[in-house]
Formats: sequence, structure tokens, C-alpha cells
Amino acid sequence: MNPTTTAVPLATGLPTTFQWGVATSAYQIEGAAAEDGRTPSIWDTFCRKPGAVHNADNGDVACDHYHRMPADVALIKSLGVDSYRFSISWPRVQPGGRGPVNPAGLAFYDRLVDELLANGIDPWVTLYHWDLPQELEDAGGWPNRDTAYRFADYAALVFERLQDRVATFTTLNEPWCSAWLGYNVGVHAPGRQNFDDSISAVHHLLLGHGLATQRMRALETRPHTYGITLNMGTADPLTDSHEDREATRRADGMGLRIYLDPLRYGRYPADIVEDLAARGSAFPVQDGDLAIISEPFEVLGVNFYFGQDFAGTDEAGNTHDAAGEPVVRAVLPDTPRTAMNWPITPSRFTQLLVRLHQDYPGMPLVVTENGAAFVDNPDASGFVADDARTAYLSSHIAAVADARAQGADVRGYFAWSLMDNFEWAEGYAKRFGIVHVDYETQTRTPKQSALWFRDTIAHTRSAQ
Ligand code: FCB
Repeated sequence: MNPTTTAVPLATGLPTTFQWGVATSAYQIEGAAAEDGRTPSIWDTFCRKPGAVHNADNGDVACDHYHRMPADVALIKSLGVDSYRFSISWPRVQPGGRGPVNPAGLAFYDRLVDELLANGIDPWVTLYHWDLPQELEDAGGWPNRDTAYRFADYAALVFERLQDRVATFTTLNEPWCSAWLGYNVGVHAPGRQNFDDSISAVHHLLLGHGLATQRMRALETRPHTYGITLNMGTADPLTDSHEDREATRRADGMGLRIYLDPLRYGRYPADIVEDLAARGSAFPVQDGDLAIISEPFEVLGVNFYFGQDFAGTDEAGNTHDAAGEPVVRAVLPDTPRTAMNWPITPSRFTQLLVRLHQDYPGMPLVVTENGAAFVDNPDASGFVADDARTAYLSSHIAAVADARAQGADVRGYFAWSLMDNFEWAEGYAKRFGIVHVDYETQTRTPKQSALWFRDTIAHTRSAQ
């Protein structure tokens, strides 16, 4: 690879023992959608819904990682990272979401884990990165309590096969996206728009996390690190008005506290339970659920992209929407934006990490995703001089160091993503990779940011 030519400094202020990684997820990179017994997930179905995904793109081929895995592991090794975070495709391992394991599907992850270990890379498993088997959605999906039990069964199948070689098992990636975007807003699979369904989905996702963690722990023949990954932003009031502060309370409650309070303290936040009751909704809690959900875990995965302000009035000044619900309006901070139109807010990353340390102490944190999409312009050789992405990564890694200096126990950082891939509703149009993918030829070319990341890791490791 070329040497780093960027002017962005390599010093991070992070310890030599800090854990560095890159992340991907199954549906976004694997392809081979109908091979070796894999059945459709809700994303295969959603991609076929007219207008659901940009350009009607889908994950049938994606980065063809299923067939190119050894070369991709070599690519990961060339970056000098400690760890690789990937997810396991439920419908590949257990087609239809129930019943026996599909040996051919599980064998792929077996080979991946062996390949990683042979290259000195620590495998970090995510059990669920949004690809619910379609049959389970047909049976009610996450709003149906039974899905939580199906998830625990699936987790046990994977765990039994990989636990001898994999140290870290995280259950869910970003349950907020599954519940809110999938069942209320409808912009992610399965595309439902039903508020009560999304509230039920929250509870059953958390229950599934707790049940799966208990099952894995009961099966373990050596100690493992268990965890869950949440996407979290920051919520600040746009002004000091009562309405804006109230909107911020609601946004923070629905975005962060309804996940972390039950996970850490075994209770849903009382103010949000009251808000839900006021609109005739409730978490479908049964006796004993909260004890299961608050099963201890060893690491919280933090996915951070940007922070937001909140207003309690719409643009016309109304405090309630047409349905009579209080307005909670997200306002993007006035900063430069990425290609997703997401604001670039590194100081709010520090703010989030310090807040987690203060409100939920004693919980080791690892940044399991952080990164940015920009419009990349490859030169004739395919190389992308993505200075904007390098600057994004650099400023956010510095934000992690700042948070650590303020006491936050952040132990690692995974860049999202190893390579350009299927960006959900945005299809292939948005590129988050530090490695460029030419989808015509499947050629991978490390971008400037990948070289900078590699050199930063090496520099941090060798710092005194
Ligand atoms: C996160 C997802 C990940 C990727 C990034 C950009 O919400 O976990 O799969 O799409 O956003």
C-alpha cells in the first residue's frame, strides 16, 4: 500500500492497548442470498417493495464477500487492526428462523473465524444486524413475543459452534433502528408503520437480548464477553424554552433511556411509561422479563454518527401534531454535513461517552461503529483521496480520547465500515467504506482514510 500522504496527524492520545477494528454486517456485504440453503430475510423482501430502497438496489450480490472471504480477511490484516466486527446471517444459519442448524450456512462463519484467527485478528460477533428470517416476520415479527425465544434458540446454535474460538458475542445491533425505523417509521424492513408495534418490538428485542445472553452463558465452556450495541446520538434543547426541554426529554427517553435503563437497571424510565400511557400504549412486560433483560453483560457497543438538537414546536410554532401528540422536532446542528446530510459533531461524541460514564457507570464501552459517507471520486487507478473521511475519523477518535480523559471507560474503536457496501434504504449510493469497492469488478482499493487509519493504529501502538 502507499504511504500516508495526508496532513492529518497520527497522534491519538490513546493507550497502546486500545482495541482497533473495522466493522461490517452480513446483509450489507455477503451477497450469495440464495446459496447453500439461505432463505430470505425481511431485507430481501423489503428490497423488492417498489420505492423502498434507492435505485431498487438489493443485497443479492453486495460485495460478494461470501465468495471472496479469504481475500477480504487479507485486506483486514493489511490494515493492522486487532479485531473484525461482523454479523451472522440468521436465515443462513437457521433458514426460516426455527428448527435445526443449516450446516452449510454455519460452515461459512466457521471458515471466517478460522481465517481471522490464522491472520491474528480477533473475531467480534454480532448475532443480529437486522436480517430477521422472513418466516418470523410472517408470524408477527419483533412485535410478537415468540420472536425473542426464537432469537435465543438461534444464538445458542451459533454459540455452540463458535464459542471455542470467539471471545466476544454481542446480541443486537441498534435495536432502535429495528423497532423505530422498521415498525413505526417504515423506512427500514419490514416497513410497518404502527407505533404500538414498535413499542412491542422494543420490549421483545430487549427480551431476546436477555434470553440469548442467559442461554450463551449457560452453555459456555470458558468465559466470554457478552454485550449489545446501541446507536446513540445526543439530544440537546434547541432553546431553553419549556417546550424544547420537554421535547429533548422525550427524544432522549425514546432514543436512549428506554434501552439502557432496562438493560442496566431492570426498569423502563417512569416518565416515558407515563407518556406512553397518555397515548394508550405500553411495553408488553410480563412477570420476570425485566430480570432477564437486565442480565449482566460485559461491554456496551456504542454506534455514534451525530448529535441533534430538539424543539417542542413545529416550524409553524404548533406544540402538537395533527394527531394531538406533542411535537418532538429534531434540528440538525449548523455544521458541515456528510453525504447522508448528517452533521459532523465530534464534540457531541465526547458528550455522549462522558454522559454514559456518568449515568450508567461501571459499563466498559467500545465504539462498535463510527464513520461517514462522502462522495468519493476515484482516480484512474481506483484510489480515493478522501480527506474529508480521514478528517471525520481523526476528529472522532480525538473525541474518544477526550472522553477517556474525562473518565469514560472507552476501550476500543471500530471504523464503519471496512468497505463500501449496501447502505440499507440508500442502496449502494452512499459509500461508508475506508476501502473503495468497484461494484462492476468487485475490486477493493484502500482509500486514503484506510492508509491513515493503518498508520494511526501503528503509531498509537508504538507510542511511549
Ligand atoms: C448504522 C448501521 C450500519 C450502517 C451505518 C451507516 O446505523 O448499524 O449497518 O448502515 O449505520
